[in-house]
Amino acid sequence: MKILVVGGGGREHAIIKAIKKNKSVDVIYALPGNGGIASDAICVNIGTKEIEKIVDFSRQNRIDYAIVAPDDPLVLGAVDALEAVGIPCFGPNKSAAIIEGSKAFSKELMKKYGIPTAAYETFSDMNKALLYLEGASYPTVIKADGLALGKGVIIANDKAEAEAAVKSMMSDKIFGDSGNCVVIEEFLTGPEISVLAFTDGKCIVPMVSSMDHKRARDNDEGLNTGGMGTVAPNPYYTDDVKKICMEKIFLPTINAMKAEGRTFKGCLYFGLMLTENGPKVIEYNCRFGDPETQVVLPLLETDLLTIMQAVTEERLSEIEVKFSEDAACCVIMASAGYPEKYAKGFEISIPAEISDSVFVAGAAIDNDKLLTSGGRVLGVSATAKTLEEAIRQAYLSVEKIHFENAYYRRDIGAKALAFNKER
Ligand code: AMP
Ligand code: GLY
Repeated sequence: MKILVVGGGGREHAIIKAIKKNKSVDVIYALPGNGGIASDAICVNIGTKEIEKIVDFSRQNRIDYAIVAPDDPLVLGAVDALEAVGIPCFGPNKSAAIIEGSKAFSKELMKKYGIPTAAYETFSDMNKALLYLEGASYPTVIKADGLALGKGVIIANDKAEAEAAVKSMMSDKIFGDSGNCVVIEEFLTGPEISVLAFTDGKCIVPMVSSMDHKRARDNDEGLNTGGMGTVAPNPYYTDDVKKICMEKIFLPTINAMKAEGRTFKGCLYFGLMLTENGPKVIEYNCRFGDPETQVVLPLLETDLLTIMQAVTEERLSEIEVKFSEDAACCVIMASAGYPEKYAKGFEISIPAEISDSVFVAGAAIDNDKLLTSGGRVLGVSATAKTLEEAIRQAYLSVEKIHFENAYYRRDIGAKALAFNKER
């Protein structure tokens, strides 16, 4: 089989490494891929938003199955375009990807179908938003409606911060058209849990839960990033919480999407917060999370491509999806300075004996040398019988990898371990 993977980050590298294990896979193309993915797939320099080029490439190269991983092409309708020329795909179509593409849509969906989430108001008129802030309670959360590279959420501690956030989105347009409309919502507190789930629109199969570490520095300090590390499973996701999530969140969400004529097929990401009043949805993503995928897929025992094809063909209920009982940890090695300014172009050395569990996010090949090319450079993963051991192994691997300017958090999984010990 000829497989196409749209995307070029650590998540896509993890997907490609998993897909490669399937014996019927002959070749994998990554669009655009990256310098590290190039060891596992043929990288072709086509951008993830260049839908026409993606379709042309797929037809010319007789692709048998396509996996669209990032949010942008999904929201732009890459799956619809590929399916229109007869190429089966993994990923939601445009009408379902709106669950991530518009926060106003997803909040309205949750309200309409009684799915627990933070109370909110939506505004497309800046003056009305500013007026609302007069009477709001603080902290409050301001979200740009559309996609914003994971940066469209601002937690405002007081009215002045909230006004500045609304103005930056709606008037200065720091996120472009994504800020034409904003959602202002209640500030919730509690541990966060990520759950990725396979769904064919009829049935939903949650994967092992995980915990992201979004802030740049230890002890959850510093700026918000795309994610500095993950562990799985998430110890806060107990059997009780799991049951509530299935009944009150997961099933109602796929049924709501179906009822709206927007059947969701693919990987649905639930960003949850475990509040005093039970689990609530913080956000939906229409795709695998990054770097959640880098801990979830190493624990998947069933063949990934087989599951994906079952999703596409709407027969997910007929197959068994098995995860290992082990734990996993992924430490992101970034360029110092990320998520702000950072230098790049430094040579990376990864010992061969650990390369299977290193997922490359931001690196380019230049004369056979692997050079840093992004903020998040590598995801270094390990699995083990216990979380403690997985964390230890991941950090042992990190110490074996070298590039100038490398920065990583030292406390990935520390909170999860502390909670485990408390229990
Ligand atoms: P998102 O991009 O929607 O995942 O939001 C980024 C982060 O902002 C989340 O992971 C939470 O830590 C935080 N956040 C989002 N919404 C809320 C909320 N209503 N209350 C508290 N924190 C929130
Ligand atoms: N790790 C969060 C995300 O993928 O959006």
